[in-house]
Amino acid sequence: MKYILVTGGVISGIGKGVIASSIGTILKHRGLRVTSIKIDPYINIDAGTFSPYEHGEVYVLDDGGEVDLDLGNYERFLDITLHKDNNITTGKIYSSVISKERKGDYLGKTVQRENICVVHVSLVPHPSSTREHKTKPTQSSVRELRGLGLSPDFIVCRSENPIDASVKQKISNFCHVPPECVICLHDAKCIYAVPQMLEEQNTSGLLNSRLNLNIGSDRPKDFMSKWKMLAYKLENLRETVSIALVGKYVQFEDAYTSVIKALQHAACMCNRKLDLIYVDSEDLEEHTKSEKAVKYFEAWRDVAKAEGIIVPGGFGPRGMEGKISVCKWARENGIPFLGICLGLQAAVIEFARNKLNWPEATSQEMNPESVRHVVIEMPEHNQGIMGGTMRLGKRQTKFTRPSKIRQLYGNLEYIEERHRHRYEVNLEYINEFSKAGMHFVGEDEKGERMEIMELDNHSYYVACQYHPEYLSRPVKPSPPYVGLILAAAKELDSHLARGCPPLSNGVE
Ligand SMILES: *[C@@H]1O[C@H](CO)[C@@H](O)[C@H](O)[C@H]1NC(C)=O
Ligand SMILES: *[C@@H]1O[C@H](CO)[C@@H](O)[C@H](O)[C@H]1NC(C)=O
Ligand SMILES: *[C@@H]1O[C@H](CO)[C@@H](O)[C@H](O)[C@H]1NC(C)=O
Repeated sequence: MKYILVTGGVISGIGKGVIASSIGTILKHRGLRVTSIKIDPYINIDAGTFSPYEHGEVYVLDDGGEVDLDLGNYERFLDITLHKDNNITTGKIYSSVISKERKGDYLGKTVQRENICVVHVSLVPHPSSTREHKTKPTQSSVRELRGLGLSPDFIVCRSENPIDASVKQKISNFCHVPPECVICLHDAKCIYAVPQMLEEQNTSGLLNSRLNLNIGSDRPKDFMSKWKMLAYKLENLRETVSIALVGKYVQFEDAYTSVIKALQHAACMCNRKLDLIYVDSEDLEEHTKSEKAVKYFEAWRDVAKAEGIIVPGGFGPRGMEGKISVCKWARENGIPFLGICLGLQAAVIEFARNKLNWPEATSQEMNPESVRHVVIEMPEHNQGIMGGTMRLGKRQTKFTRPSKIRQLYGNLEYIEERHRHRYEVNLEYINEFSKAGMHFVGEDEKGERMEIMELDNHSYYVACQYHPEYLSRPVKPSPPYVGLILAAAKELDSHLARGCPPLSNGVE
């Protein structure tokens, strides 16, 4: 086993996760087996910002592990399945690996720690007041790293614009890293260009010699072509598709990372550039205060211009009435709609209120006192006083009747997707829903919980209890998302009529 430790310096959010994934990608392409571990040795409390971890998206694995968003990046890039063990918060393994490798040093036997290689990612800013890139922040972050006992083998310089050879040389000199091991990555139009940028600087060759990977010098003929073509395609998309994402944390893109990625994968597959319109669901609620009136007007104007609408998952009552209103808008106006988890529940409540004429309809989460709970807490998860635990991880869904969504999934009998929820549709009312045109077309194996809803007589009105975004991949977009994009682009009917032929990203 060889380890590549990717550390970050200067500031966070400069793409350490993407760089780690991209390094894994190029090594995978050269025939190695790779996996990724996310290590968070420190508790990351950034005062003044909400952690999306607590307030929005949590990435869920097959085994039900609720993990850091970076693991999502690794799964998508490397197209692998990770486990709870890949998420380490204590830094336990990290310190054991490092100390084991370092013992060699102390005994004077190995000067090179040859099974571990440190890649330090650093920002190289270019302040607008100066004419050159600044290397000082990188120098001091490398010094700090050395203070922790880690010497970088590679320095990846992140910058807005390409870095001059002289700056690269300077970083090499001051940080004591050979010039060829200073890798420069300026901002790319899309993240899929990163593996290729790394390879243009011989990263896999250098890692090969540094870690004795024995990967040989001849590269497969189509080496990296998948990523090249994907990057090329994304950069050259002309037609757009506009999707309104109606959520509660729209100001925090991180909170919806997987949802946004899944939309992008699907849009690219359908030859459209994604025009994402964020709408705060609270702004869609009527307010008595006049200062809110402008926001209300603007939010509805944004919804009205979208060709498709997505209501992603979330928790808690805040903003729920706004989500319910947007479900009504999409249903009544034939706007393509995808509801995820809480988005499904919002669509069900809306239908109950406005189509079945049950104005008191709600969910147990929103109003425990109501007499009409169309969404209830899952019975077996509701045993403790503190509220239940969640239904997590990969579960089977069985299709129960023909539907667009089933066709999009390739007419399979069963599918498997990842879940994370505590509430579900109340079985007591499903016949009434069905009679009025809202069908539950997918159920769990026992037929006890409703997994997918699809509306009759609508261009595309689909919602699922599970989170399909977790299994979306750049070259294997998630079917419910593909359906939304195709419907928004007015291509779904012809796609279904042709029997859902495989779409191509120009790769594989
Ligand atoms: C994974 O890491 C996060 C923090 O990044 C932590 O809150 C969570 O409990 C960990 N999950 C598991 C399954 O260990
Ligand atoms: C890449 O780096 C390796 C190791 O230093 C070297 O042997 C090889 O010649 C380099 N390849 C290119 C194309 O520069
Ligand atoms: C189908 O939808 C249209 C509007 O989208 C509506 O006018 C019509 O009444 C609906 N038909 C049924 C059977 O619900």
